[in-house]
Amino acid sequence: MRPSPEFAELFGRPPVVEADAPGRVNLIGEHTDYNGGFVLPIAIPQRTRVQLATRDDDQARLFSSDFAADGVREFTIGSEAQTGEWLDYPQGVLVALRDAGLRPGGFDARVDSDVPLGSGLSSSAAFEVALLRALRAAFALPIDDLRVARLGQRAENGFVGAQVGIMDPLAASLADEQSALFIDTRTLDYRRVPLPRQVELAVLSSGIAHAHADGDYNARRYECEQACALLGVGELRDLGLDDLARIAALPEPLDRRARHVVTENARVLAAVDAMRGGDVDQLGKLFYESHASMRDDYEVSIPEIDFLVDLARAEADVLGARLTGGGFGGSVVLLARRGRAGAAARAVAAAYNRRSGHQAAVLVPIGLSPGRRG
Ligand code: GLA
Repeated sequence: MRPSPEFAELFGRPPVVEADAPGRVNLIGEHTDYNGGFVLPIAIPQRTRVQLATRDDDQARLFSSDFAADGVREFTIGSEAQTGEWLDYPQGVLVALRDAGLRPGGFDARVDSDVPLGSGLSSSAAFEVALLRALRAAFALPIDDLRVARLGQRAENGFVGAQVGIMDPLAASLADEQSALFIDTRTLDYRRVPLPRQVELAVLSSGIAHAHADGDYNARRYECEQACALLGVGELRDLGLDDLARIAALPEPLDRRARHVVTENARVLAAVDAMRGGDVDQLGKLFYESHASMRDDYEVSIPEIDFLVDLARAEADVLGARLTGGGFGGSVVLLARRGRAGAAARAVAAAYNRRSGHQAAVLVPIGLSPGRRG
């Protein structure tokens, strides 16, 4: 494959700023962020990079190495129009900035990413946050990291049309690879929770891409809103384990949807305690419980992902496994004994590839080789 063109080749001059942002894997706390609940993402090594140079007019010209065949795409700032394609993400970012009273000028940008697309690792938030950081640097925009995250979410909710929560842009804006970010999505308070020394993570993609804007994700959001209306609460976050009996009286499937959110919030808090206390067996157990809840109550898993989790459970060095991200495809995150994540993930991928008819890929640890991590 021809390597994609460099910035100077595309735009005839060098970039003036460069910025980047990571993908993320959520350890636990799924479909809780749009319910005012708790999440626990951590950054992955894969990142999206944006090189950018300002222009004297209102044109935004962008090239993405993920869509190299598209060449340079262009839009006029102030006249954004939906395309249903990747260009909607940068257009959404410009619209969100303008709605916030911020008006960067035109620019040329080259985007390059190794965050896999459609794998539940938040490639879209990595793109939005990297672009916002590049624009912040180039146009001296007065936006802090929290604001960057909110603008990323706004771009996606408003222009792209995916009603995603705040977790992914916050993780792209604030998370690192050493500590998970415990976020209370109601207050946006966050704390860093180091991964216990005895464990490491692996991420395996199922080979089946998801698409949130496709309606399933938005349908779950709507079900949560219906459950709130029937229960007379503003957000499912307002409920706790004591309310499970009331929740059970909701019509099907709202009872199971609400039960997932309430029990998942409790699992995030328990996971933070387990991480702080170094109780890695308990942490692993919470991963499995979270997966079962997403599969049975929230119904966002698919048989192939369930199969990956079952294969992981059969590995002696795996302590826990679960679907990560929005679901309907995507990836699983494995919690394994230190030094064993890579080997365990490879064994799971090999069994899956033999028996499922799909191709799993070990995405984290990246660059697996004997003697490295795993
Ligand atoms: C997607 C969304 C997030 C979150 C997860 C599910 O990744 O972007 O906001 O809702 O799904 O936890």
